[in-house]
Amino acid sequence: MSKGVTKQWPAVWPCSARPPHIPCVTQRAAIARAAIMNGPAITILRGLPVPQLAGLLMLMLGVALTEGVGILALVPMLALLGQAASALPSWAEPFARLVDLPMLLVFFVALVAGRAALQFALSLAQQRAQLKLIDRWRHEVFAALVRANWRTLSAMRRSDHVSLIVTSIDRLGYGFSNLLQIIAMAVTLGAIWIVALWLAPALAAVAVVGGLIVIAGFIPLKRKAHRLGVALGQRYAAVQGSLDESLRAMRLIKSHGREAAAIATMQGGMTELRSAQIAFHKAASRSRALLHVGAAILLATIIALASARDVPTSVLLPLIVLFGRSVPLLDALQQGTQQWAHSAPALAEAQAVLDTARAGAEPPVGDALPVVPRQSIALDNATIDHDGRHRPAVDAITLTLPVATTTALVGPSGAGKSTLADLFGGLLEPDGGDLVVDGKRLRGEGTVHWRRSVAYVHQEPVLFPASIRENMLWAEPDASDPQIETALRDAAAGFVFDLPSGVDTFVGDAGCQLSGGERQRIALARALLRDPALLILDEATSALDAASEAAIADAIGRMKGVRTVLIVAHRGMLTDLADRIVHMRDGRIEHVENRRKVVA
Ligand SMILES: Nc1ncnc2c1ncn2[C@@H]1O[C@H](COP(=O)(O)OP(=O)(O)OP(=O)(O)O)[C@@H](O)[C@H]1O
Ligand SMILES: [Mg+2]
Repeated sequence: MSKGVTKQWPAVWPCSARPPHIPCVTQRAAIARAAIMNGPAITILRGLPVPQLAGLLMLMLGVALTEGVGILALVPMLALLGQAASALPSWAEPFARLVDLPMLLVFFVALVAGRAALQFALSLAQQRAQLKLIDRWRHEVFAALVRANWRTLSAMRRSDHVSLIVTSIDRLGYGFSNLLQIIAMAVTLGAIWIVALWLAPALAAVAVVGGLIVIAGFIPLKRKAHRLGVALGQRYAAVQGSLDESLRAMRLIKSHGREAAAIATMQGGMTELRSAQIAFHKAASRSRALLHVGAAILLATIIALASARDVPTSVLLPLIVLFGRSVPLLDALQQGTQQWAHSAPALAEAQAVLDTARAGAEPPVGDALPVVPRQSIALDNATIDHDGRHRPAVDAITLTLPVATTTALVGPSGAGKSTLADLFGGLLEPDGGDLVVDGKRLRGEGTVHWRRSVAYVHQEPVLFPASIRENMLWAEPDASDPQIETALRDAAAGFVFDLPSGVDTFVGDAGCQLSGGERQRIALARALLRDPALLILDEATSALDAASEAAIADAIGRMKGVRTVLIVAHRGMLTDLADRIVHMRDGRIEHVENRRKVVA
């Protein structure tokens, strides 16, 4: 891309120095905090289809019910074993008369087997729901980013998105599975407490009140876990960001001898990430220890009360089993709540990016055919005014490119050449004025549609780690072999046919197995394969040697009178080809130098 964050701004952008219109990590965390208060649990559950949610709830209820009945079956079982049979509760007497011990044991085993089957189905259903949720969020965030306009994208940091899509959304899925666990746990706990209250109301009431106090104690822990979750999200983004930047800047790092600094930056980020993870683990372990101590105190109280009230063993034992089951459930409930609070900021983070990207969404144009201009491509009074800048990058410029002519834009750095080229290419929509093709003013959908007719070649061509053929087909998937060959020859890239594997030669990571000039000619061939109505070359030869520049200039020269070409360049072979040279400074046209007669 000709401009944007990566070009004019430092790679790693601290929040304090970032321009106000760019959401930095801390700002995003603030958005995250705001969103968490609005019930992310409800938001996330609403995303599930109703039948799926109902199915999950039914399975949870089934698991809870079988658990409660299983514990209840202990009462007649103990009575039949002769344990305090005289003190059997009245509801259990008919059962004890009707069934014998083997029957009860078979029933018990069948119940546990049924519960195991339900739990199996539940865990599978939960896993499916979790993976589906992750897939949906990944898809929505990525699709929203791809559909956002260039201005929105250039104000965002790429590595933040990688961190969001890869890490945060995974955390979100994990949080969601915790949320489902919380619901399942709460349902089971409810069932257990109902059974306990029925068995021995007074004693169970003590246990239930104790349990409710523990649950109330979760609230501050949840807030803390949420704060730690926000911090963790930031650290992940920072680590991923510095990793991404360093790997991209490896050549620079080596040539500047900055290896140690790069390793130290990465190490620093990892240390901070680890400390955020340990802080969360510490908080979770501390609360678990507190829960266990509290549970022991409560159990001791219940047993003391039971012995004072002469509660029969056949009731006391199941009650202790119920209590014993409640503690790990409460424990899991607490851990689940903390995990959820810890992961939930990822939802707000994803939502914030989604909202920003959707706010800058471009209208879809479906598979409309490219526009073929017959007369001219023009800008009428076009202005681009970036937030936080003293003057417009392009200031009310009116310029016409007659079809089949070559125009060069020259001027000092920052004059607005790339911005003007992006306006002609439909990548940017003017803040004021219009892009006019054959007299038709283009806006919104029209501008996006126009882009189908444009091809760019930049100073640093983007080649994918694939074969030359695949790189070409990326731009035009239906292109035939002869079309690929013609485009390569037109772009002065005939050298491809002398390579041992020809068009099937692997170009290496980012094209590193080709020279700069070869890469650039393949990028030009790929652009030509689209048969663009407007070809834009933004400093396409500034990094090349004279021979490579001459090869490209030769290719462009052969397009004269056939294709509309816009060249952004400092003086050189390419500008010499132009029918007209437009001199720019401070976002305006200083003067136009006509080389040949141009019919406007
Ligand atoms: N996304 C952006 N946000 C804010 N300002 C921007 C943005 N992109 C470009 N600018 C500013 O707009 C002005 C014109 O930039 P542009 O990239 O068009 O210059 P240029 O003439 O192509 O320069 P160069 O020869 O260095 O490539 C510059 O002052 C630049 O800092
Ligand atoms: Mg530029």
